[in-house]
Amino acid sequence: MDNSKIKRYTVTAALPYTNGPVHIGHLAGVYLPADTYVRYLRSNKRDVKFVCGSDENGVPITLKAKKEGVTPQVIVDKYHKIIGDSFRELGISFDIYHRTSSLMHHQTASDFFETLYNKGVFTEEVTEQYYDEKAQTFLADRYITGTCPKCGNENAYGDQCENCGSTLNATDLINPKSTLSGEPPVRKETKNWFLPLDKYEDRLRTYIDGHKEWKPNVFGQCQSWLNAGLQPRAMTRDLDWGIKVPVKGADGKVLYVWFDAPIGYISATKALFEYARLDVWNPMAEEYYINQNEMEKGNWEEYWKDEETKLVHFIGKDNIVFHCIIFPAMLMAHGGYILAENVPANEFLNLEGQKISTSKNWAVWLNEYLIEFKDKQDVLRYVLTATAPETKDNDFTWKDFQARNNNELVAVLGNFVNRVVVLTHKYFGGKVPMCMGITPEDQLVIDELAAYPAKVSASLENYRFREALTEVMNVARLGNKYLADTEPWKVIKTDEDRVRTILNISLQICATLEILIEPFLPFTADKLMKMLNYGGHLWESAGKINLLHRGHQLNEPVLLFEKIEDEEVQAQIDKLNQSKVDNIAASAVVNPAKENIDFDQFSAVDIRVATIIAAEKVEKTKKLLKLTLDTGIDQRTVVSGIAEYYKPEEIVGQQVSLIVNLAPREIKGIVSQGMILMSENSEGKLAFVAPVAKHNNGSVIR
Ligand code: MF3
Ligand code: ZN
Repeated sequence: MDNSKIKRYTVTAALPYTNGPVHIGHLAGVYLPADTYVRYLRSNKRDVKFVCGSDENGVPITLKAKKEGVTPQVIVDKYHKIIGDSFRELGISFDIYHRTSSLMHHQTASDFFETLYNKGVFTEEVTEQYYDEKAQTFLADRYITGTCPKCGNENAYGDQCENCGSTLNATDLINPKSTLSGEPPVRKETKNWFLPLDKYEDRLRTYIDGHKEWKPNVFGQCQSWLNAGLQPRAMTRDLDWGIKVPVKGADGKVLYVWFDAPIGYISATKALFEYARLDVWNPMAEEYYINQNEMEKGNWEEYWKDEETKLVHFIGKDNIVFHCIIFPAMLMAHGGYILAENVPANEFLNLEGQKISTSKNWAVWLNEYLIEFKDKQDVLRYVLTATAPETKDNDFTWKDFQARNNNELVAVLGNFVNRVVVLTHKYFGGKVPMCMGITPEDQLVIDELAAYPAKVSASLENYRFREALTEVMNVARLGNKYLADTEPWKVIKTDEDRVRTILNISLQICATLEILIEPFLPFTADKLMKMLNYGGHLWESAGKINLLHRGHQLNEPVLLFEKIEDEEVQAQIDKLNQSKVDNIAASAVVNPAKENIDFDQFSAVDIRVATIIAAEKVEKTKKLLKLTLDTGIDQRTVVSGIAEYYKPEEIVGQQVSLIVNLAPREIKGIVSQGMILMSENSEGKLAFVAPVAKHNNGSVIR
C-alpha cells in the first residue's frame, strides 16, 4: 500500500487470554512493537486507532477456573484488571482496552456468525468428537493434548501445535489424553458448524502472494499451509463458557474462541466510538481503559471497511494461522471488510536460556516487575526492544538487563543529556546560548543529525524495531562524541563564544532525542521534555537545529536513568532459582494408598537386615546386579534392578532390608532368593532402605 494513499490506520495487538498475567515474552513479541509503531504514527500526525482487549472465552479460561476452583467469571475479572492495569502502567497507549465478555462483543460476534450462517457459508456436520465420560464434556482445544502428527511435539493441543504452528483437529492427535482426567477419551457424535476454508483457498493465495513484503517467517508459514491444502474447520464447540451459537438447534454450543476473539478487534473499535457517542458505558464492567482523545470524530466502520485504511495486526508466532488464514477467510465470507496490510509476528523470547513457561512459573511477570522496579518502565521497554526476537528466538537474561541499563541507558543516553544540561546551567544560567558561528566540524555533526530521523522512520515503517532503537541510540553516541571532541569544559577558559555554539548544538541534539525516543521510551521522553521545558513530540521537527531558541530557559537537570546494582538483579535470579526448586517439589506425583490388609498378612512378610558382601553386573543387561548377601540366617544370591543407580564396587558393605521369605525366582538364569526393599521417588530414582544405625544381620524389620 502506497503511503500517500493511507488515510488512517487500525493497529491491533493480540488479545491476551485472561488466564494469567502478562509476561516479558508477550511484551517483546507483541505489545511493545505495537505501541512503538503507534506512537511513531501519532508523532507523524497520522490518524490511528490502537485497539486491544482481554480474550475471555474458550478453554484456556475454563481450565484455569477449574484449577483454581472458581467460576470462569472470577478468573476473567481478576486478570482483566491485572493485565489492563499493568499495560497502562507500562505506557502501552491503547485507545481502548476492551474485553470479549462485554455485551458489545457478544453482540458483534453473534451478528457476525449469523450473517455467515444466513449467507449459507457454513456446512453443518455431525462428526465424532472426543468426549470425557468422567467429566461429561466434549474435549476440544486445550481440553485435550497429544502428539502432533506433523512435528512430534508431545504436548500439542486439540486445535493447535504451538511447537510447529500447525492448526489441528483434536482427532488428528496421536495418543490423545483428556486434560481433565488424564485418561484417553472416547468418541461421541455431535453437530458443529464448519467454515469451509478450502473454498477460500484461491482468494487467500492471491491475498498472501500479494504480500511478499511480510516477514519471511510469516509469509513462509502461510505458503506452507496453502501448499498443504486447507480443510474445513469447526467454528463452534460443545462448551458452556463463551458466546452462544445464535441459531436453532445449537443449545449447549458456543462459538470457537478463535472465531470470536479476532472479532474482538472490531467490537473494541466499535466500542471506542459508540460508547463515546452514547455516553452509557461503564468502564469497569465493559472495558478497562479508553483514551478519550478525539473519540467522537469519525466512526468505527471507516477503520474496518475503507480501502484507504491500513490494518496491521501485531501478534506472536503461534497466532499466525489464525490471523493470516482463518480471520481473513471469515472477513472474505462476510464481505465489506478490509484485510490486514501486514501481520508482523515475532518469534519467542526465552528467559535465562529456557523457554518461558507459565505452568513452571519460569517468567518475568509484568505486574511483579512494575512493583519491584518502580519507575523503571522504560528500562524494561528498552531492553525488550533491544533484544526483541524479531527474526529468531532470543534470550532475556538479568545480567544483560543490568548491563544494558548501566552501559547504554545510563552511560550513553543519560550521560549525554545530563552533561549538556548541567553545563548549560553552569555557564549560562540554564538559558539556551546563542549559536555564534559554525565550524566545519559542527557542520558534519549537524548533517549527521539531520539524517537520523529518516533512518529511524525507514526501520519503523518496516517493523524493524531493534534497528530503529540502535539508530536512536546512535544519536546520543553522536552527541557524546561531539562533546568529547570539542571539550567545552576546557574551552570555556579561553573562548566562551565557542562554548555557546557547542552547547547550542548539543541542546538541539537533546531536543531531537526527545522526539526520537518517545515511541520507545515515553516516560524518559516526558522527563526530558520537562527538563528542556519544551513541548515536542512531532516527528517532522526531529533532526533540525532550531528546536530550542536562544534565551529559552531550561529546567533543573534530573537524572534520566539510575544504575542498577548487582543485588537487584541477583534477587531476580534467586527468584527464578526458587521457581526451579518449587517445580521439582510440585512435579512429585504421589500415588494413592493401596487397599487395606490385615495384620496377619503383614506379619507373613519376613523382612530382615542383611549386608551386601559381593556385587557384580549381570551380563548383557543394563539394570541388573547379582548380589551376595549375608542375611544372618545364611548367605544367598539376590538379583536386583539397581544397576542404573549403584555401581557394584560402591555397595559392598551396604546394609539393606531384605524380604527373606519370598519364593525364589529365576532371573536371567540366576536363582534370586528374596527381594531388596528400595524407595522409589516420583522421578523413578531408587534408594536403599536400611536401618539408620548398623544392626546385626538377621535383625527383624517390622
Ligand atoms: N488470546 C490469544 C493468545 O493469547 C490471542 C488472541 S488474538 C485475537 O494466543 F485475534 F484473537 F484476538
Ligand atoms: Zn507440531
